Amino acid sequence: MTLMKSVFVLLALLVVSTRAFTVLPLTRVSYISKTAASSAFTVPTALKSLEVAEIPSYESKESPKVLGGIKIGLRKLVVVTGASSGLGRECARSLVNSGKYFVIMAVRDVDKGKAVAKKFNFPENSYTVMKLELASLQSVRDFVANLKAFKSARPLTHLVCNAAVYLPKDPKPSWSDDGYEMSMAVNHLGHFLLVNLLLDDMKKAKGARCVIVGSITGNTNTVGGGLVYPKADLGKLKGMESGGKQPIAMMDGKNYDGAKAYKDSKVMNMMTVSELHRRYHKSTGITFSSMYPGCIAETQLFREKRQWFRKIFPLFMKYVTGGYVGEQEAGERLAQVVDDPICSKSGVYWSWNGGAQTVGRYDASGKPKGAGGSGGEIFENQQSDAVQDRDMAMRMFDLSFDLAGISEKEKTKDGPEPDNML
Ligand SMILES: NC(=O)c1ccc[n+]([C@@H]2O[C@H](COP(=O)([O-])OP(=O)(O)OC[C@H]3O[C@@H](n4cnc5c(N)ncnc54)[C@H](OP(=O)(O)O)[C@@H]3O)[C@@H](O)[C@H]2O)c1
Repeated sequence: MTLMKSVFVLLALLVVSTRAFTVLPLTRVSYISKTAASSAFTVPTALKSLEVAEIPSYESKESPKVLGGIKIGLRKLVVVTGASSGLGRECARSLVNSGKYFVIMAVRDVDKGKAVAKKFNFPENSYTVMKLELASLQSVRDFVANLKAFKSARPLTHLVCNAAVYLPKDPKPSWSDDGYEMSMAVNHLGHFLLVNLLLDDMKKAKGARCVIVGSITGNTNTVGGGLVYPKADLGKLKGMESGGKQPIAMMDGKNYDGAKAYKDSKVMNMMTVSELHRRYHKSTGITFSSMYPGCIAETQLFREKRQWFRKIFPLFMKYVTGGYVGEQEAGERLAQVVDDPICSKSGVYWSWNGGAQTVGRYDASGKPKGAGGSGGEIFENQQSDAVQDRDMAMRMFDLSFDLAGISEKEKTKDGPEPDNML
């Protein structure tokens, strides 16, 4: 088979697998009890009689940790959300191993976070694990209170918003504690609140950076975002304008589509970074960045996919599109955006090894180039026109204040008036 033919066959397989299994009789429930091992799971329809409404939501915060005996010294304080798996875990590992950072692993499952740190031999006194359930705005607020108690007057220097869910197979939306569709709540709104509650603290730090992980899937100018349906599209933000709560599942106000909800949330992540940069970079000095790590085809992000897909997908991305990157290398990429002096430039969407606007081509050394996969150099990537839509970004940002319940008093006062924005 020629390369082109195999591309088409595998592409077709992938599209079918992405779209075909969306009718399984599963119901997703938000379960955010501190006694649960994990916060979200699926139950077969047959078990619906368990009355999901009675399952407790996020109940109470942990007792605040205090810095106590930990000597941070000259190390910088970094919060990494979703540090219990995949990209976040590997980023935390890279930062811990550099010896330059004290890492706060912000995770929904504290026991899992601790087990990960132990398994990967994070040195004692180089990290702590704190509860953060992004599907609960109250939990985000409790996390910020705990973080402030933990670090005392020392400002936070780095914030990495990495955690996410991808729910392409769910036929019906699941809802966060606050009544928002789960991918929008976890990927966008929880992080939006977290960033905004920490801006005033971070602006006190020298060289502070805030990174929100983006994706090509939200960028329609790429193969993954432009050719694989559904495409990200926030429409006219009708869902958000109507309050964005149950039964409204999509920010464009249309019918629920789990794969699209993920892509829409990634667009919002990238728009949030652009808007944070325009509104607050000059006045706070904080560097705001987004990045595309490459296709980390083996992470738990694809947990809803069938086993055969999870076996084929990494091979497809490695040998056909050239977009594949391993977890460790992807984590090093994210850590680079946190640490590398060249990444002190604000408002940038960082990528490596090409913009993934075509499938990769093999270079003279036999390695795929151009599709964002393993290897290559870091560069300032171009976002799609949709992501760069300034009016849409401003509107989305302002509506997110309301949806995330951020009061006027809580907004940083350092931002310029909207018409003075960069
Ligand atoms: N994988 C890729 O190919 C790819 C490509 C582009 C961008 N990305 C982005 O990379 C980031 C990390 O994804 P990944 O591939 O590393 O996936 P992953 O292995 O599934 O990691 C996601 C992390 O988010 C956490 N999380 C999920 N729901 C949460 C909630 N309600 N509250 C708090 N934390 C929650 C998970 O916690 P648990 O450990 O408890 O499950 C996990 O630690 C995401 O932003 C994703 O959009 C991934």
